[in-house]
Amino acid sequence: MFSPQGPSVRELVVQAMSSVEHGYDLLAPKFDHTPFRTPEKILDASAEALASRGPFDNGLDVCCGTGAGLEVLERLCQGRVTGVDFSAGMLDQARLAHPGATLVQADVRALEFDAEFDLAVTFGALGHFLPRERPALFAGVYRALRPGGLFAFPVAGSPPLGSVAQWATLGFDVAMRVRNAVWRPPFVMYYRTTTLPPLRDDLMAAGFTVQAVPLTAFGEYGNGSPRLGLILAHR
Ligand SMILES: C[S@@+](CC[C@H](N)C(=O)[O-])C[C@H]1O[C@@H](n2cnc3c(N)ncnc32)[C@H](O)[C@@H]1O
Repeated sequence: MFSPQGPSVRELVVQAMSSVEHGYDLLAPKFDHTPFRTPEKILDASAEALASRGPFDNGLDVCCGTGAGLEVLERLCQGRVTGVDFSAGMLDQARLAHPGATLVQADVRALEFDAEFDLAVTFGALGHFLPRERPALFAGVYRALRPGGLFAFPVAGSPPLGSVAQWATLGFDVAMRVRNAVWRPPFVMYYRTTTLPPLRDDLMAAGFTVQAVPLTAFGEYGNGSPRLGLILAHR
């Protein structure tokens, strides 16, 4: 799972016992060598699905980290590309890889942009938000988009009951809930809260019109549901 340039087990444990912000500050220099960085295959499939929905002028990457989504925006947007994240360490890495991007250190639960962007994306970060935090997050993205703007992000399909994938996400979430019950500060990262139905409901409550398309490069589960889809939420 981890390349030799990735973090050691000790570094990962220290990171996992920190707050989300500080944990990412610690992990930042090695983050791109971990499986937590959104893989190129997902970025490529997302960019491909979005290409025909442009052209886009300004783009926003919400929780940009080291810049996975900035890569996608730089391919699709003709105007300014902006990344926002609260980890200074992650933003330092993003700055090195994307010198042309505008990088903003902020908590995305209180975004302050107003009708500036045509395309917003987020990759690999929604599990950091409790369901009760999503209305503020989605309202901020809605405000940040121009009318007609698009908020897009990949979402994992529902693995069949009893499958390895289902047990893996369940095991991860149970471990995180136990960790957060006994240790402060909490490190919120849950997979099972970010399935399509509740995300769609919260996006619609924020005012978006929501559509989901399968990312066919990732195939389907035996029950016919796509392994990965792309949510397209229009302001
Ligand atoms: C798993 S990383 C994903 C980074 C990048 N989008 C990617 O796909 O590789 C999650 C990122 O979300 C950021 N993050 C989490 N909660 C945040 C918040 N409330 N405000 C801003 N950034 C946040 C973290 O600092 C981290 O950089």
